[in-house]
Amino acid sequence: MTERTLVLIKPDGVQRALVGEVIARIERKGLRLAAMDLRTVSVEVARTHYAEHDGKPFFDSLVEFITSAPLVAMVVEGDRAIPAFRQLAGGTDPVEKATPGTIRGDFGLITQFNLVHGSDSPESAAREIALWFPGL
Ligand code: TYD
Ligand code: MG
Repeated sequence: MTERTLVLIKPDGVQRALVGEVIARIERKGLRLAAMDLRTVSVEVARTHYAEHDGKPFFDSLVEFITSAPLVAMVVEGDRAIPAFRQLAGGTDPVEKATPGTIRGDFGLITQFNLVHGSDSPESAAREIALWFPGL
């Protein structure tokens, strides 16, 4: 079942020069890039992207972080791309949840700076792809 998912390499991943590492893992998994762009996003886009977390204690600092520097936005496609990328990424907390062998488990230490985002459902993927790559 071919799907598309929205992947972000967040500002920490770009600053730590892990863009190639993350793309290599996506490609080695057998997933494909359908779109990719380095960009610095507005507070409005960041708040919309993370709307489900509006009101939570980490929301404002998350938005501030995501808008602080360039990130890489991608549409990744392939068989079961949504869960497949979530598997590559690992759990949200890079120490307590992500296991070694995952992107977060191998390179992350702090939850806010967990390097990557991947859509969590078909509904989220459709909403996020329309936000980040309208018309794709
Ligand atoms: P969430 O959607 O729960 O995680 P995921 O990225 O695995 O889908 O949270 C979105 C981002 O918010 C998460 O990647 C990092 C940040 N965050 C925090 O900074 N602190 C927290 O306690 C949580 C749950 C998330
Ligand atoms: Mg999420």
